[in-house]
Amino acid sequence: MNAALSDARSASRTTKLAVVGAGAVGSTLAYAALARGSARTIALLDVNKAKVEAEVLDLQQGLMFTPQAEVIGSDDVAVCADADVVVVTAGAKQKPGQTRLDLAEATIELTAKILPGLVEVAPDAVYVMVTNPVDVVTYAALRISGLPRERLFGSGTVLDSSRLRVVLAERCGVAVGNVHAYIAGEHGDSEIALWSSATIAGVPLLNWTPFPGAKPLDEESREAVHREVVDSAYRIISGKGATNYAIGLAATRIIEAVLQDEHAVMPVSSLLEDYYGISDVCLSLPSLVDRRGVTQNVPVPLSDQELAGLRASAESVRAVQKRFGL
Ligand code: LAC
Repeated sequence: MNAALSDARSASRTTKLAVVGAGAVGSTLAYAALARGSARTIALLDVNKAKVEAEVLDLQQGLMFTPQAEVIGSDDVAVCADADVVVVTAGAKQKPGQTRLDLAEATIELTAKILPGLVEVAPDAVYVMVTNPVDVVTYAALRISGLPRERLFGSGTVLDSSRLRVVLAERCGVAVGNVHAYIAGEHGDSEIALWSSATIAGVPLLNWTPFPGAKPLDEESREAVHREVVDSAYRIISGKGATNYAIGLAATRIIEAVLQDEHAVMPVSSLLEDYYGISDVCLSLPSLVDRRGVTQNVPVPLSDQELAGLRASAESVRAVQKRFGL
């Protein structure tokens, strides 16, 4: 078969995304994927039959305005059959003042309950965990499912890195697309900003000269930016009870990198094996995402302070893993 025909055939092969959990995050993610044309079939699963049927009907009634797609849903796991990507958003909601790690017990139990049935109906899917605490849940899900480490990973700090880039773009007076900067480590209070590898319009951030009238990026300013990023979710949760739009968009972007086989570098949460000597814990680092899942952690140069921060983040997540016998 010639290359053009095989490309055409692979492009026409329909793709199926299964979203587990039709709460604020899951339904927003399904909406974002529908609006962006991320997958040909979007399946929504939730234990609440009335809720999932209502979400599906509401999405279906927008199909005139979106790229060609099919939206289905059920309280029966069979609706996820043969999905190419399964995204798990089901879990306990973070309450005002609660940390993400505080949700571990409830969400590990739920993950253990739902994952085996999902893997049975979608054995070849790439699994993306979104439920918090996403690093601990990803580690637990790998243990529960027995899936290879590249085929199950977490949304990690893709969202946090977006928050960082948006804040930096505003401070520097450039478009978000001109900022390359990562948040790494736990998707949570111990996350770190990788300042030493960040660039603004190709200029190393640490050497950036602010435009006239723009805000500085000195060490004190960077610490304030980092604090603003770490505190973002708490601010939003105290105001509206949950975060959903940015995490829904971040997860949708990850799904597209898998389904389009993009080989995109994204800070997703994966099981580390001797990354600067860190192993046996799921943390976010810039990693290659493609049709097979997460295939490679990028060995990003780290300052001594960043490496110390990453190790501290690993200890914080590992302590919760140990508390639940993982
Ligand atoms: C947040 C949630 C997804 O950071 O943990 O908004």
